[in-house]
Amino acid sequence: MPLIDPFARAISYLRVSVTDRCDFRCVYCMSENMSFLPKTELLTLEELDRMCSTFIRMGVEKLRITGGEPLVRKGIMTFFAGMTRHLETGALKELTLTTNGSQLRKYAADLVACGVKRINVSLDTLDADKFAQVTRWGRLAQVLDGIAAAKEVGLRVKINAVALKGFNEDELFSLTDWCAKEDHDLTFIEVMPMGDLGNEDRIDQYWSLKDLRARLRERFTVTDLDERTGGPARYVRLEETGQKLGFITPLTHNFCESCNRVRLTCTGELYMCLGQEDMADLRGHLRASTEDALLETAIRAAIERKPKGHDFDYSRQKVDGQMTRHMSHTGG
Ligand code: GTP
Ligand code: 5AD
Ligand code: SF4
Repeated sequence: MPLIDPFARAISYLRVSVTDRCDFRCVYCMSENMSFLPKTELLTLEELDRMCSTFIRMGVEKLRITGGEPLVRKGIMTFFAGMTRHLETGALKELTLTTNGSQLRKYAADLVACGVKRINVSLDTLDADKFAQVTRWGRLAQVLDGIAAAKEVGLRVKINAVALKGFNEDELFSLTDWCAKEDHDLTFIEVMPMGDLGNEDRIDQYWSLKDLRARLRERFTVTDLDERTGGPARYVRLEETGQKLGFITPLTHNFCESCNRVRLTCTGELYMCLGQEDMADLRGHLRASTEDALLETAIRAAIERKPKGHDFDYSRQKVDGQMTRHMSHTGG
């Protein structure tokens, strides 16, 4: 029996945050002084494997590994290697990750060996100073080198750029051109109200993708595509370059009606929606028995509570649906 939620949406996509830690401190994701979970709270690599394998048995076909930064989790390649068996049986259709790119030089080849074909890399600017500003701790050169390493081993790269008003508006065309030249896909994302910053901050940062699209049309013919990757992005093609652009618009166009995903945190909490507080703590169920029956029952009960959608809204000149959780907790 596949996992079906109360709104008849089949859950086939599991996002797994394998660590809450990161070597960057992006302003829209973390505060400068984050306190992280003690390592003893984390699911072990074996437990992560058991959790994911259970979800796959229950119908999950797409697994995206997130963080924090997933590649800073010690031993993470062991976990990836373990998931390869599910690709081989065909139960799992896609194994992938979202990364800040800092460790790709080290791991790109191993990821390919584990069956990863496509990765998403967060990159909001191509300007080294601005990159240092938005990531607080990141170095652009290291990330660009990581992306180059991914390309060298044949990984398809999708760049994720959070659209930030007054920050990367002036880079719309340089980012687009760079991705065309490098043959990377590119997705723009509307900034979501996560974390404990004051409300004004998010509205000040918010650049709607409606505006961004209008700006694109000044230079390109923009054609909507029907293509979907099983994620929230809608795609367009720029006719002049032939390149594909994605738009993730939690604010201007809510895509919850087609939501197919849930997210597991590194401590085994299952969040049924990125924009709601409700979660199910699966760790206890996992640890209570070496059989997976208890866990399966807990997962089904959780999916039955999946809400209709998030309540993010900036339209009344204030932030609605604000989440106190940081993005790094659930991995986006
Ligand atoms: P693809 O497989 O390439 O389509 O990936 P994806 O877009 O599902 O994953 P990625 O990790 O690149 O996430 C991109 C952005 O989409 C991040 O900012 C996520 O927080 C956001 N996102 C993913 N799923 C959801 C969702 O269900 N709701 C909301 N509001 N945002 C989401
Ligand atoms: N709003 C939108 N996207 C965010 N990300 C992190 N925090 C936010 C936020 N507040 C993005 C990262 C990464 C993806 C997993 O989520 O840039 O690409
Ligand atoms: Fe780290 Fe990604 Fe969050 Fe930036 S957005 S702090 S790279 S987890």
